[in-house]
Formats: sequence, C-alpha cells, structure tokens
Amino acid sequence: MTTREKPQNLWMGRWGFVLAATGSAVGLGNIWKFPYMTGEYGGGAFVLVYLLCIAAIGIPIMMVEIGYGRRGRGSPIDAIRRVARESGQGAGWSLIGWMAMLCGFMILSFYVVVAGWSVSYLWKTVTGGLNADTVDGMAAIFGANNASPWNLGFWSTLVTVVTMVIVGKGVQEGIEKSVRWMMPGMVVMLGIMIVYAMFSGGFGQALDFLFGFEIGKLSSAGLLAAMGHAFFTLSLASGAILTYGSYLPDGKSIARTTFTVAICDTLVALMAGLAIFPVIFANGLDPASGPGLIFMSLPLAFEQMPLGTLLEAIFFIMLTMAALTSAISMIEATVAWLNESKGISRVKAAWGTGIVLWIVSTLAMLSFNVGADWTLVGKNVFGWLDYLTSRWMMPLGGLGMAILAGFVLRDDIFRSELGLSRTQHALWLFMIRYVSPLGIVVIFIDALGVMTL
Ligand code: PFF
Ligand code: NA
Repeated sequence: MTTREKPQNLWMGRWGFVLAATGSAVGLGNIWKFPYMTGEYGGGAFVLVYLLCIAAIGIPIMMVEIGYGRRGRGSPIDAIRRVARESGQGAGWSLIGWMAMLCGFMILSFYVVVAGWSVSYLWKTVTGGLNADTVDGMAAIFGANNASPWNLGFWSTLVTVVTMVIVGKGVQEGIEKSVRWMMPGMVVMLGIMIVYAMFSGGFGQALDFLFGFEIGKLSSAGLLAAMGHAFFTLSLASGAILTYGSYLPDGKSIARTTFTVAICDTLVALMAGLAIFPVIFANGLDPASGPGLIFMSLPLAFEQMPLGTLLEAIFFIMLTMAALTSAISMIEATVAWLNESKGISRVKAAWGTGIVLWIVSTLAMLSFNVGADWTLVGKNVFGWLDYLTSRWMMPLGGLGMAILAGFVLRDDIFRSELGLSRTQHALWLFMIRYVSPLGIVVIFIDALGVMTL
C-alpha cells in the first residue's frame, strides 16, 4: 500500500501512460489475429461490426477501467474494492478484479506461444529457413516448427523470460523505458511495409476486401468474434489497462487518452491489414487461411518478391516488439497485486508469477505437438484459453465494470474522474448504462443460439 505514493510508481513522462497503454493495446491482436479473423469472417462486414464494437462498447469501457485504476490506485482487485467501498458497496465487487487478473494471466499463457512463433520466424528469416516455394512447403515448415516441444518450448520460454525481466524492473525502469523506443520503432516499420505493399500490385484488391461492406456475409459467430476481439485488442477486462491507469497522474484527461489509445490501436489493425493483404492477393493466396496466415501465406509471398527477405525480417521484428509490449501489460496486474497487497518484492513477484505462467504456457504450447489431442469438446488447451478469455471472460468482466460504474457507484466518482462536460458526461452515462451492456448481452444471447439477428 505504502509503495504507491512513491513517485517511481507513476508514469514519468508526459507520454508514459499513452505509450504504455498503446503498447498494451497494439499487439498480436492487431497484426496476427485481426487480419486472419477478417479473412475468416468475410472481410468488410466483419471490419464494420468490429469498428462498431470498438466505438459503442470498447471506448466507454476503457474509460471506466482507467477510472477504476486511478481512483482506486491499485491492482484490479484492490482498486475495484476501494472504489466500491467509497460508495458503501461490499467487497464482492472485487470479484470483477479477480476475474480480470486471471484473464490477463490466461491470455498471456497462450500469447507467449504465438509470440514464440514470431521470434522463431525472425530467426528462420535471418538464417534462411523460410525457403519453401509452395503453400504446402510453408505449411510443412510451420508444422515442423511446432512438432518438437523442445523447439517450440524454447521460443515460448524465451518470451516468458524476457517479459518477466522487464516487468520485474518496474513501471518506469522496465515498462516505460522499453515502450519508449519500441512503439515509435514499430510505427516506422509498419509504415515501410505499407509503402512496400502499395507497390505489390494487390493493394486495390486488399482495399476492396477490407472496406467492401457486404453485410450479408456476417454470421452470429462473426458478431461474437468481433465483440470478443474488440475487448481483446483494447486489452480490456484483463487487468492491464486498469493497472496502467492506476499509475496515471491525477491531472490527465482519461477521455482524451482513451480516444488516443483506441484510435492508435484501430489504425494499426487496419494498417496491418493494408500491409498484409496486398502481398497475399498479389501472389494469389487465400486470405482465409486462419491463424497460419502471417506464418505461412505471408512468408511465401515475401519469398517471391524483391527485397522480400528484408521486409520479412522487419515484419517479424515489429511483431515481436508488439507482442512484448502487450505481454508485459498482461502480467503487470498480478505482479502489482503480489507486490502491493502481499508485500512480495517486485522481482520475486515477477519470478514467482513467471514460473506458474511457464507451466500453464507449456501446456498451451504442447497443444501444437504432443498435446494436440488433449481436447475437451473439440478444443485443446490453447483453444480453450483463447475461447474462454476472448468470448466469455472479457465481455463478462466488461459487463460487470459497466454495471458497477453506471448503476451502482456514487454519481460523483466518475464525474470527477472523467471530468467531462455536462453533455459529454450524459452521453458517456448513456453508453455505459445502456449501449455497452445491451450490446454485450445481445451478442451473448445471439451466440447461445436463442435468437438470430
Ligand atoms: N491488446 C493486445 C493485442 O491486441 O494483442 C492483447 C492483450 C493485451 C489482451 C493485454 C489483454 C491484455 F490485458
Ligand atoms: Na490490439
């Protein structure tokens, strides 16, 4: 508790929070998941509902999350309990914080596996290992990389260790210092990739694919996926944004920073689409090739293009940095909680959490080789971690946070935290009371098959 008032536990620079929160938001979700989901769920129709979910559900909830963090000045569990107590509410509300913290941990345990793919592909690019010239050949390389638990485990372990080292160093020395150079670096690299994609010959087709809104193509599954992804991509209800918000100095505008983060995240997702799909189309490959899109189709496309290897290396460096700045945010909640509430030193908390994380992530990693058949209703460990967190835990956590803020808490708390004008506040209240919760509930009901939209 006492550690909190020390200045090293607030962001140091003017841009500290925005950079760190954007670093958290921009990740594999934007560069790996968004493009392949868009490919799978039919292009523009998916993009449209995704954007609606960001605006109607994601942005209002992000404001609430940062608000809880700053008001409660602590990890999700402590912050939500304190804010609830301020309004005379019981400690039961902190269950939302528990779920969020668990959710961040669960996401990280499969996230490090995908980040491990990224690092191993960077290694393969540099050492000339991505030399197949057919889709099947690239699929075989992807398969071989996954087939050995020792190989795959090496890369996911490496990511886990780097993540815990950064988090162990603390908010300013670890997190803020690393995002300071990684974020600008990523933007530059993404820019280079888009310019390259513009000259690839598939740019027009990619624009059509991403922005040609054919609403008929949208399914209930696509809708649920779009909502889940809105939470995932903005790092919501997983403890990350709330904990980062707890380091936000008092004077900063929560509304303004929320918009900045959400807009940057959306732009990067669309930019990733504009960097990847032209290259895919120019080489006549399938945009709907699933999670392997950037690990099979994209390297194949690059192999066939001038300067391809260079671009490929840039791509995987960028992807790895994006993954790391997100990974550190997912575990910060747990480490902060152990540190502040349990009095465990930051470094010990980071290593302790890291060991548990390593065990769970190893189970997720084994889903790609020896544990591929350890399934329950058709999903393996990796599949369950992804499905439970994105489709259920994040939306439910978001629903809880919205209800608490919209209906339960004393009205002046968010009035003073958000500091909006009268009209803006009324609009925010309307969104958080009705639009966001109803959106979440309707999509849940639809997903349960009770109703078809
Ligand atoms: N927003 C990250 C991405 O798009 O890759 C993923 C993420 C980060 C989810 C942090 C949850 C979280 F707490
Ligand atoms: Na994201």
